[in-house]
Amino acid sequence: MEPGKDISIRPMNLEDINWVLETEKICFPDPWTGEHFKSEIVHNNFSEPIIATLDNEKAGYAVTWFIADELQITNIAVHPKFRRMKIGSSMISHILGEGKKKTIKFGYLEVDNNNYGAIGLYREFGFREIGMRKNYYRENSGDAVIMMKELD
Ligand SMILES: CC(C)(COP(=O)(O)OP(=O)(O)OC[C@H]1O[C@@H](n2cnc3c(N)ncnc32)[C@H](O)[C@@H]1OP(=O)(O)O)[C@@H](O)C(=O)NCCC(=O)NCCS
Repeated sequence: MEPGKDISIRPMNLEDINWVLETEKICFPDPWTGEHFKSEIVHNNFSEPIIATLDNEKAGYAVTWFIADELQITNIAVHPKFRRMKIGSSMISHILGEGKKKTIKFGYLEVDNNNYGAIGLYREFGFREIGMRKNYYRENSGDAVIMMKELD
């Protein structure tokens, strides 16, 4: 990333949904809907959806559930324009930091086993493969790898 670029993380709000949906459609073959994101923001008390900005421009988002002593990253994406600039890393650092504040013990996520970039990113943060869900992804019938990290 160029020196001086400023990555910030803030809560996602309803005004972000249009941008999130545009990005979601670019990133995933089976995108979440606007209602889904709205529900995460308004109704799901376990959910903390976030937006990452680069120099105040929206660049990525993530949705994480914090339940009992576990967190689960249920959605994370960076707009293609902003990839390999550590936006994804910044969101994961933020999520794990929140987890520590809430005395979370375990972090989980599921990822398409062909998504080598994302798997590499999660491994860098100490997530390890603990299982597989066969034919998890409707559109491409890919298998999902379940990854887990113990928070210290
Ligand atoms: C996966 C994703 C969130 C990564 O976001 P990002 O901001 O580009 O990631 P970062 O810049 O923080 O990457 C950090 C490190 O992860 C690894 N990595 C990330 N993307 C990679 C890729 N496409 N190929 C190989 N390694 C990759 C690299 O080690 C990278 O470090 P480097 O750039 O110094 O080599 C982004 O590619 C994305 O939105 N993909 C589409 C949606 C998706 O697959 N989401 C995950 C669903 S589980």
